[in-house]
Amino acid sequence: MQVIEAFPPTENVANLQLNADGDLRHLLTLQGLDKSILIDLLDDAQRFVTEPGEPTARSKSLEGRTVANLFFEPSTRTRASFDLAGKRLGADVLNLDVNQSSRKKGESILDTVYTLQAMHVDIMVVRDASAGVPSYIARHVDDHVSILNAGEAEVSHPTQGLLDLLTIRQRKGRFENLTVAIVGDIMHSRVARSAAQGLTTLGVGELRLISPPALAPDPDEMPNARLLDNLDEGLRDADVVMALRIQRERIGSLDGIPGIDEYYANYGISAERMKSAASDAIVMHPGPMNRGIEIESALADSRASAITRQVANGVAVRMAVLERVCKSMDRR
Ligand code: CP
Repeated sequence: MQVIEAFPPTENVANLQLNADGDLRHLLTLQGLDKSILIDLLDDAQRFVTEPGEPTARSKSLEGRTVANLFFEPSTRTRASFDLAGKRLGADVLNLDVNQSSRKKGESILDTVYTLQAMHVDIMVVRDASAGVPSYIARHVDDHVSILNAGEAEVSHPTQGLLDLLTIRQRKGRFENLTVAIVGDIMHSRVARSAAQGLTTLGVGELRLISPPALAPDPDEMPNARLLDNLDEGLRDADVVMALRIQRERIGSLDGIPGIDEYYANYGISAERMKSAASDAIVMHPGPMNRGIEIESALADSRASAITRQVANGVAVRMAVLERVCKSMDRR
C-alpha cells in the first residue's frame, strides 16, 4: 500500500534553494540560478575530474556528514554517482531501498524524511516521478538539512544539467558561439529542461530543440529556443548534438508518436545524419540509451561521442554540489 500524496507546486523554487546569504542550501532547479553560481559549481567540479586510470579525487570535506539517497524511480548513473561522490568526500552514505521501505506500508514521504532527519541525515538526494516532490520536502525539513533534486518528473534534473554544461565546456571551451541541438522527446524530458535553463543562463549562441510534433514542448515554455521538427535542418552546423530517450514511462497515449523504425529514420542520430553538423561536433546522451532508436550504436562509441565523459563528469559535479551545500550548512 502506498498513500496518495499531493505535492502542491512551490512558487519561487529558485529562491527556496538559497539561504539568506545567497548560498546554495538546496539544489532544486537550474532555473533562476545565477550565472556566477553555475560557473563556481563547474569550476569546483573540474577540480574533481580525473583521467581514467588515475587515482580518483578525494577529500574529507563531508567527514561526519550523512547523505541519504532516496530514489523512488529507477536510476543507474545518478544514484551510483551520488553514492560514489558522497563516499569520496568522506560522508556516510545511506542508499535507502525504497521497495523495502515503510512507504510501501503507507508511510507518507514526509514521515520517511522526518525519520531519516531524526537519524541525523544531513543531505537527502531525492528522485521521484511526481512533480514538486523535492521542493515540497525542502519546505518541510529542518534548517540543517539540504535537499538535492536527482530527477523530478519531467520538470528538472539539475545535476544532469550541470554535468552536461561541464562536458560542453571541456570539449568546446565556451558557450557564446555555440549552436546546441537537443533531439528527441523534449516534451517529457527533465534533462532537456535543465540543459536549456543552464545553457540560456550561460549565454549559449543558439539552442535548437528538435522533436516530432507530438513530442514538442509548449513554445512559450522555452522562448529562447528554436523549435524544429526537421532533423537535418536542426543539425545544420550544430556544434553539440544531444540525443534523448523517448520517456515512455511519462507518456499516457502513444497516439501521434512514431514507431521505432519511423522514429529512427526521422530522428535517430547517426554518423550519416551528423554530416550536416559542424565537422568537429560532439554527440551527447544522458543515458540510459536505446541504441538503434535515438542514436546509432557505432556513433555512441565513436570519437565524436562525449557520452562516457558525461558519466565521469557526473561524479565530479555531484561532489561539487555536495561540498557546496555542506559549506552553506557550516555557516547556518
Ligand atoms: N541520466 C540519468 O539520469 O540516468 P539514470 O536514470 O541512470 O540516473
